[in-house]
Amino acid sequence: MDFSDFLEFLSRRSSVREYEETPLADPEIEYIISCASTAPSAGNLEAWDVVVVTDADTRLALADASFGQPHVGKAPALFVVCANYVRSMSQYGERGILYAVQDATIACTYMMLAAHAHDLSTCWTGAFDEDEVREILGLPPHIRPLAILAAGHGHPQLRLAERMNTGEHVHRDEW
Ligand SMILES: Cc1cc2nc3c(=O)[nH]c(=O)nc-3n(C[C@H](O)[C@H](O)[C@H](O)COP(=O)(O)O)c2cc1C
Repeated sequence: MDFSDFLEFLSRRSSVREYEETPLADPEIEYIISCASTAPSAGNLEAWDVVVVTDADTRLALADASFGQPHVGKAPALFVVCANYVRSMSQYGERGILYAVQDATIACTYMMLAAHAHDLSTCWTGAFDEDEVREILGLPPHIRPLAILAAGHGHPQLRLAERMNTGEHVHRDEW
């Protein structure tokens, strides 16, 4: 892929909160997970896990846990991406907490872009009650849910969200 194609690919993605009912096919789910497993991770420990939720009742329960956000219940698949603290802390101690969060965030980003490459729409969802999500999914204490990536067949917006000027982010040589 040409580098300008890559920027265009990224620029065509937007969060989508309306989906068709068509479920994701198993190969689509497998593709998304395979892409995530190419992500870098601290010490190559891959301190992330994902719960793939397609069951309708569980999706509705997760929508409730996400403060009633409708897209969470409507998306045919939810990728609940979690940091696995024990996997990273076994090597890095306290610092492993930060690494696990970063590992899981990168993995979720790869999943979002993999879905985009597969012409699927997503919405990264961070607003949820962690304890409720833990309870619904039976997560063990060392597993922290970081993001619910809602995914389905949808239609990206024509008007993309505005961004800050890149100059507002960038500091050269010092702050
Ligand atoms: C950490 C994080 C948390 C987010 N949480 C939510 C959320 O709870 N609900 C939601 O509808 N969108 C959520 N979003 C999506 C953002 O609203 C969206 O990415 C942003 O407005 C930019 O729009 P775009 O994705 O279309 O470029 C979240 C995105 C990120 C990265």
